[in-house]
Amino acid sequence: MATEIRRTKIKDLLAMQAGSEVLVKGWVRTKRGNREIAFIALNDGSTIKNVQIVVDKNSETESILPRITTGACIGVRGDLVESLGSGQAVEIHAKDIEIFGECDPMRYPLQKKDTSFEYLRTVAHMRPRTNTFGAVLRLRSQMAYAIHEYFHKRGFVYLHTPLITASDCEGAGQMFQVTTLDLNNVPKNKKGEPDYSKDFFGKQTSLTVSGQLEGELGATALGEIYTFGPTFRAENSNTPRHLAEFWMIEPEMAFYDIKDNMDLAEDFIKSLVRYALDNCRDDIQFLNDRYDNTLIERLEGVVNTEFVRLTYTEGIEILKEAIANGHKFEYPVDWGTDLQSEHERFLVEEHFGKPVILTDYPKDIKAFYMKQNEDGKTVRAMDVLFPKIGEIIGGSERESDLGKLEARVNELQMSRKSLEWYIDTRRFGSCPHSGFGLGFERLLLFITGMQNIRDVIPFPRTPKNAEY
Ligand code: 4AD
Ligand code: MG
Repeated sequence: MATEIRRTKIKDLLAMQAGSEVLVKGWVRTKRGNREIAFIALNDGSTIKNVQIVVDKNSETESILPRITTGACIGVRGDLVESLGSGQAVEIHAKDIEIFGECDPMRYPLQKKDTSFEYLRTVAHMRPRTNTFGAVLRLRSQMAYAIHEYFHKRGFVYLHTPLITASDCEGAGQMFQVTTLDLNNVPKNKKGEPDYSKDFFGKQTSLTVSGQLEGELGATALGEIYTFGPTFRAENSNTPRHLAEFWMIEPEMAFYDIKDNMDLAEDFIKSLVRYALDNCRDDIQFLNDRYDNTLIERLEGVVNTEFVRLTYTEGIEILKEAIANGHKFEYPVDWGTDLQSEHERFLVEEHFGKPVILTDYPKDIKAFYMKQNEDGKTVRAMDVLFPKIGEIIGGSERESDLGKLEARVNELQMSRKSLEWYIDTRRFGSCPHSGFGLGFERLLLFITGMQNIRDVIPFPRTPKNAEY
């Protein structure tokens, strides 16, 4: 292409006045036309919107136009002019077209005939080229930025916690082991067990299920920290809300009690949703119009409503009352058992009609580090429950009393040796503190209105699925 002008991104170009010569580069979404003229809709990923390219048919373009098919990558130099057609203010009258990469229409995996999310998951290497995944992935990136901005504005330190660890924070035994031992010839100790002293780290290690324990080390030195990184859980849950590899944001704050923790969690989520409404309007509007025309209403609803706060015990009473009034749940409701997502959604969607923060869960269904209440039965946990999602945040005030923490670790028969460093925070200058974890993909489910968590992460990792 005999031109020296610089490429303009379509997002910027659509905000420009007509009159100048421009260069755009992108992928063809559609091509249509008649004998005299062709219209190409071009997208470069900078926005959900396409720019329309108008090509006059002449001897030169006649030869090139058949090669410009859906999916092909081209560069176009031309004049930015006011558009006569509806739907766009400006369009480009092409003077010069370069084909970077052709796209065989017969073999291109993105065909009009099957655009179901199930099918697109099987071609996840190509689905970022669709409007929907473009919108979702731009939103994902924007929300990551919004999260960092939120904490930095408030003086939180971004702490990088390790992904390889020797401790199971949540104590649920759902860790992916990390090893360089030869699985065909595992060295054994005297008891016949694998001899991890011969392993890479000299001990048994796994991918982390949470950065919290190391986060607490940061908070009890720096005051307020947050982590934001990948998290791994080998739970065999084939649900629309579980991934084996997901991203979590974990703030941890010295001198926060559970009330401060709830206040932060509520403000945090509301700020993120507001950020999306204010800064990602085109993509959200697209998702709203295409799939779920109550999406924007739902997002605005959350920003403008006060979350309900009640205890687990009160929640159980409401659920039992619902059963007495004839409501049917698949799983039983009993004090002491964990709530199923049908229970969480009943409270949020049917009973209150807004987000709920549930606190003070039975200690036996929560992790060892949570602050124990005086009743001896419950802990100062807090879960934030959201419409259509269920649990979006899990957190708690932490047990800061050395004796109580040690007693709980012993009671649960956890490995003391691998936790001494954690217990040191309570030994040396212990302080009241709290924190929580927000599942990034669960947040994105809410903000995009997508139904399946596999559709809000570029390359999902789920049981029996680690493609790409
Ligand atoms: O409730 P969880 O297990 O809490 C923790 O990991 C604490 N250490 C957090 C803390 O207090 N710092 O997980 C927190 C959140 C859940 O509420 C959920 O949003 C998300 O992480 N999450 C998952 N998201 C996708 N796939 C999974 N398998 C998830 N498991 C948890
Ligand atoms: Mg939880």
